[in-house]
Amino acid sequence: MNERLSDRTAAACLRAAVAAPSIHNTQPWRFRFDGTAFDLFTDPRRALGAIDPDGRGLHISIGAAACNLRVALAAEGWATRIERPGPGGGAARITPVARLGTSPATLALAGAIARRRTNREPFSDAAVPAAVLDALRRAAAADGIRLVVLDPVRRGAVLALTGAADAWQRADPRYRSELAAWTTGHAERRDGVPATVFGPRSTTSAIALRDFGLQLTGADRDTARFETHPRLVVLHSRGDDPGRWLDAGRALERVLLTAAVHGLAAQPMTQALEVAHLRRLLAPPGGRWFPQMILRVGYGRPVSAGPRRPLRDVLLNAPGVALPLRSTAFSRGEPVAAGRRHQR
Ligand SMILES: Cc1cc2nc3c(=O)[nH]c(=O)nc-3n(C[C@H](O)[C@H](O)[C@H](O)COP(=O)(O)O)c2cc1C
Repeated sequence: MNERLSDRTAAACLRAAVAAPSIHNTQPWRFRFDGTAFDLFTDPRRALGAIDPDGRGLHISIGAAACNLRVALAAEGWATRIERPGPGGGAARITPVARLGTSPATLALAGAIARRRTNREPFSDAAVPAAVLDALRRAAAADGIRLVVLDPVRRGAVLALTGAADAWQRADPRYRSELAAWTTGHAERRDGVPATVFGPRSTTSAIALRDFGLQLTGADRDTARFETHPRLVVLHSRGDDPGRWLDAGRALERVLLTAAVHGLAAQPMTQALEVAHLRRLLAPPGGRWFPQMILRVGYGRPVSAGPRRPLRDVLLNAPGVALPLRSTAFSRGEPVAAGRRHQR
């Protein structure tokens, strides 16, 4: 690399990484920038023992952060190399390798990083154009992941398994206390899921969305009818190990950013993937492809952003490198790299 990445750009790109989605907004990542490369580490203190004992969701979250980091670097004109696991002992290393210039498509994706958010509102009945679904498929395929748009039969099966998984989880005291640990005490917290983004409780029995306000009584919650025939897509990886989970996370975020560019809202709904015997039922025949993510997509009203920890909380020191940490919390209204801004 002839030209050096400035510390300022490195910090901006790390803020983009931190804007990634993560399971229960645990933000289970740490980063080190040594002046030439970024190392991404898992943070085992933020693992979810009840719903994610193998760390699959944790790795998907790290993969999503890796995607944002690369997209933000690409929007700054940097081509990157990714190594997994990272030679520095982390989950991955991302190295800016060459100045390339950037494209309108990359700028649009980077511009969506700050606007993307999980939407837990009902979606309208408007059809999602085939061209947009194709764009989502291509986004997933860029990381070797297969995105399947469910037909009505498979949708019914996935909704039934999701309902079963949701009931199973609600009945588990470990699930309930883990959920409570990540959804309460929010005035000062910069992680977890605050009540402002729980979304309304569904009165539509056909669709079991994760209820982040499980501990709240009915009187504290809005209710709403959700779509009876939600548009669902499932991401599958070829293989089922930490490397594939990282790929699935990168693909997930590229899909979510692509959706945001097209004004499409999305919500992961992963209960059926968190109960091992139900997840097995979702695997396609043949034994080669494994389900990693279920998304509900559609058109919904705008929602608030969830909190993020400041960069200083997720950075591991690298000798001789002092990144500008002046802007403490990532403002999710602010674009992280030059890019078009859209309103959802
Ligand atoms: C692996 C994984 C699983 C998730 N599962 C769900 C889910 O079942 N229901 C849900 O509403 N959100 C789910 N999410 C979304 C996270 O809760 C969300 O990313 C996090 O709270 C941060 O909010 P944001 O996406 O709006 O930035 C999941 C995210 C990931 C990465």
